[in-house]
Amino acid sequence: EAIRRREMLRCHDLAAKFYHHILLNTEAGVPALQYLQRRGLTLPTIEEFQLGFAPDRWDLLLTFFKKRGFEEEFLERAGLLSASQNQPGRYFDRFRGRVMFPIQDGQGRVIGFGGRILGKGEPKYLNSPETELFQKGRHLYNLHRARPFIRQQGRTILLEGYMDVIMAHQYGIRNVVAALGTALTLEQAKILKRNGNEIVMMYDGDRAGQNASVRSSEVITEAGGVPRVTVLPDGLDPDEFLRKFGTESFERIVEEGTISSTAFKLKMLRSNSQLSTQEGVIAFLSEAVRIIAEAKSPVERETYLRELAGEFNVSLESLKEEMKMVISNQK
Ligand code: UTP
Ligand code: MN
Ligand code: MN
Ligand code: MN
Ligand code: MN
Repeated sequence: EAIRRREMLRCHDLAAKFYHHILLNTEAGVPALQYLQRRGLTLPTIEEFQLGFAPDRWDLLLTFFKKRGFEEEFLERAGLLSASQNQPGRYFDRFRGRVMFPIQDGQGRVIGFGGRILGKGEPKYLNSPETELFQKGRHLYNLHRARPFIRQQGRTILLEGYMDVIMAHQYGIRNVVAALGTALTLEQAKILKRNGNEIVMMYDGDRAGQNASVRSSEVITEAGGVPRVTVLPDGLDPDEFLRKFGTESFERIVEEGTISSTAFKLKMLRSNSQLSTQEGVIAFLSEAVRIIAEAKSPVERETYLRELAGEFNVSLESLKEEMKMVISNQK
């Protein structure tokens, strides 16, 4: 068992080096290298993240590993080869025509890959399947590089994607991780919380990103952490934002733009509510009270309730009454 794990780690390490070599030192890598440079990545960054390229071929990695005496079945279990559907016993490279992003565990060992298609196509990112080494809900992209900075600052910045993290790193922002495409899991939140209480989510400025922020902030609260949410302007993602506005603007958004997850959820609810009708207002208020009830601090709850009471001209008492109902219904 332990031996197989070690072999699996070894072939991930070899595969990462192989793809990295192709990207930087071969003719086949040129389009991918140009692609990454067009996206603003420097060579030192490409080196640091050990980015690579898997050319659009069926048997490149297969041949590479066969020469080194690895079994095809084993490589399929490791998520590096795929089994043919119509020719049993045949295997081929899982990653083809993709820029390769090695995913490392907390100790910096490669345990999987994300592969981005050059240009358009589906899926945009193909990731390693779940294997003995790689379970995406248990790992965070870039954790091993970010950890000392998270500890030092007491704060994690949680981003959506590989490119967001890499670009942030290049711009000197080091306490950044990404949750590997999924909404944050409780396990991931606990790992982060162990290193620092505050978790600032800076998800993409689109609808999907905003929804993921709400879900993730609930998970962070459950893990005992302090969630904060930032909203980037114009639907930008952190990668695009940094290239457009730079490090200082990014840091300003983190410092000033963060709002509590309660405030964020209220803001989302408001933008989805019909406040022009009485029914709409009533529905909004009762949902808002439900959100406020989740806040831990009594002072925070009272503050939000007061604001609502003032704005919608209802008594603070009735809102408190409503909140009691919500809380007792949940028990
Ligand atoms: P995005 O769609 O926001 O992509 O997905 P991105 O990170 O901005 O990528 P670029 O800039 O177009 O290259 C965010 C993250 O969700 C996961 C990846 O981890 C991605 O970085 N994802 C997305 C997948 O795993 N598969 C997909 O097909 C798309
Ligand atoms: Mn190198
Ligand atoms: Mn996105
Ligand atoms: Mn992007
Ligand atoms: Mn994005």
